[in-house]
Amino acid sequence: MMTDFKARRQRALDAIHPGVMVLPAAPVAIRNNDVEHDYRQDSDVHYLTGFDEPESVVVLNSVREPHYTLFVRPRDPERETWDGARAGVDGALERFGADAAHPIAALADELPRLLEDVPSLHYRLGLERRFDERVLAALDRVRARAKLGVAWPTRIVEPGAVLHELRLRKSREELELMRRAISITAEGHLEAMAQTKPGMFEYEVEAVLRAVFSRRGAERHAYSPIVGSGPNATVLHYRSNDRQMQAGELLLIDAGCELGYYASDITRTFPVSGSFSKEQREIYEIVLDAQLASIEATRPGATLDEIHAKSVEVIAAGLARLGIIAGPPPEAVEQQRYKPYFMHKTSHYLGMDVHDVGAYFVEGKPRALEPGMVLTVEPGIYIGERAAAPERYRGIGVRIEDDVLVSPEGRIVLSEAIPKSADDVERACRA
Ligand code: GLY
Ligand code: MN
Ligand code: MN
Repeated sequence: MMTDFKARRQRALDAIHPGVMVLPAAPVAIRNNDVEHDYRQDSDVHYLTGFDEPESVVVLNSVREPHYTLFVRPRDPERETWDGARAGVDGALERFGADAAHPIAALADELPRLLEDVPSLHYRLGLERRFDERVLAALDRVRARAKLGVAWPTRIVEPGAVLHELRLRKSREELELMRRAISITAEGHLEAMAQTKPGMFEYEVEAVLRAVFSRRGAERHAYSPIVGSGPNATVLHYRSNDRQMQAGELLLIDAGCELGYYASDITRTFPVSGSFSKEQREIYEIVLDAQLASIEATRPGATLDEIHAKSVEVIAAGLARLGIIAGPPPEAVEQQRYKPYFMHKTSHYLGMDVHDVGAYFVEGKPRALEPGMVLTVEPGIYIGERAAAPERYRGIGVRIEDDVLVSPEGRIVLSEAIPKSADDVERACRA
């Protein structure tokens, strides 16, 4: 693993030259009283270092050595007895390949030296206000030495401009982790389809997913899982997962594990009792056709807007055909009549973050996809209980979401192992 982190740092160093980049670790978040939220390192910090301890800071300096400095929590036998081992300064050098390492308490003294005579500082201002103060104090200390001929960074640059471009194009090693995350998530969805029965509570299905993710070594969910039955399937960010499912309803599961800091993000919608009703199947097949059309449109050179437009076209035509919105389809698209039922976009980038980094627009224009980018394709139709649609369609919510790699030839659907056609889904539910 070390090799890839080193190569990433080198690419970052090349891209910031002549510059210095300062990245603080993710802060520890208090949950309540003296209990902390589970710690997860900042994605950029992990991407460059693999160093996952809190209270650390990464400094990359392209101008002179040390090019890679880590500030870390020092070894502390007393604390380590309670909280587990720390790498410490020696570990930062030996195990994480830092050129220099210091205890975090030395930051105020050491950081000014690292900023001296470097024209650009790549630092994300405004995210961690308390850390901003420490960086600005270091800048002040460099400026104070101007009369001695020391130059200070005169530009502060958003580090994402460099790092998020790198993260947008996935390496072979990153894709391997994403494939493994997706295969665990696939097993979770399959097991959920097989085990769901009328009378179960949504949280019992969530427990099925959670058990598969944990059993297969995923560290955590990539986001709060959505397990929405019946009308809850029409609530986009439904999270309570506490309703008892009834026969004849649909269950929408949007869940994905995170493995080795890489997210998966997959949605399937299936009938609780194993067979779609006529109306459910009608809606389901429109969403599926929309998704297949959008997947087909995913290729190098395409934009997310074009991919979205395919889903919009199919969904608007389908809703008009069923009498849920007024036609004709081109006019329904033009006047956005589909929008009360399909109110979100079709795709987002996927990677270390579920809604991954990387610019969606370049010079004001939607960005063209390139091989190595990974995105979701996830159209849906959500007909709320109070919607203006004919009554027989009310309360139906369907989303189908796959994770798709842009390849030189077109695209590879990384999550294709999970059943998707209405018949295959019914079979998986009866397994
Ligand atoms: N699960 C979040 C999303 O689908 O975007
Ligand atoms: Mn999702
Ligand atoms: Mn998604």
